[in-house]
Amino acid sequence: MDKLKDILNAAGDAARLAGQLEREPAPLPDGYVSRLVGDPAAVQWYRARRALSFYAWDLYAAAAIKHYRAQNPKAGTPHLNALRCVVNGLIPADAERLEAAYLACKEVPWRDERPEGYSFDPFESPISTPAYRDKMMTHREASPAFEAVLNEALATQAPKIEAVLGHYWAAGAVRLFSHKPGKDGGLHTDAWPLSLKKIMIYPSGAGPEQGSTTLVLQDKGAMSITGGKGVWAIFENSVLPHFAAAPRAGQAPRPTIEITLLPAFRTDPTVKAHGIHVGYPWLPPDIEGLEGAGVPNGFTSAEIKERSLLRTLLLALDMPREPAGLVAANLGYRDT
Ligand SMILES: [Fe+2]
Repeated sequence: MDKLKDILNAAGDAARLAGQLEREPAPLPDGYVSRLVGDPAAVQWYRARRALSFYAWDLYAAAAIKHYRAQNPKAGTPHLNALRCVVNGLIPADAERLEAAYLACKEVPWRDERPEGYSFDPFESPISTPAYRDKMMTHREASPAFEAVLNEALATQAPKIEAVLGHYWAAGAVRLFSHKPGKDGGLHTDAWPLSLKKIMIYPSGAGPEQGSTTLVLQDKGAMSITGGKGVWAIFENSVLPHFAAAPRAGQAPRPTIEITLLPAFRTDPTVKAHGIHVGYPWLPPDIEGLEGAGVPNGFTSAEIKERSLLRTLLLALDMPREPAGLVAANLGYRDT
């Protein structure tokens, strides 16, 4: 807490210094573990940042849903409401091209490569170390050729995804990984703001043999995503416990493309950020580009961001410390 007080007392520099509680000097070497992981000040900061982020996204999503319903009065109930998990697929030509483009991307070790403004989690558990991630899965760097194919495939799916979510959407960050045969991932929920989802695309298909994602539905028990090349799923990733089901021994690693879906006021299927890490933006990205004449005082994107940092700092200073043992339950992580 002393660190937070010192930052607050840095007067004009407080916002810039506070931002360092979630940013690392870039670029980071492969295998680096953040010095912020487990830092009490970073943990307090994260809890405050998350609280404000959840609230901002709730309000933004509500406005986006109202806007979508006003423009599409005949839109029915969002498919995700009833089903909690929707499985669908790319058109076959897109699926073939996407698989080839995926497999042509270069394999790289895992590293923390968050896009600017994306969430940071200082509660990272020991199962999330770079060494552990590299043991469980391979990662690939998205090439420009891959992104072009992906953006086209997502554009073709755009109306279906709108019907699933019940609002317009924008693609955020993308991560490419292949789960190796052997050990399943841990059962968890993503603990994101509720309005933020992921679409998981399996370029080579998913199922009991080749590996999948398994979800626990409250009423229907466990279900695994199953389908051929280009099968995709959107599910309530912050509500339903789920885990990565490893391919059976002797199978190839199971390729997965994970993309953040953000509520939006018009659909924009072009991915905005790629890295080895996928998270969610702390704030709705529509505040970008508010600079210039004609913007009311205090409402440029830079001013909004600075206020959000200072408000986070004040909230972090007021928050009680997290009791030991509550951390894992609070985030929904538990190893299997
Ligand atoms: Fe997850």
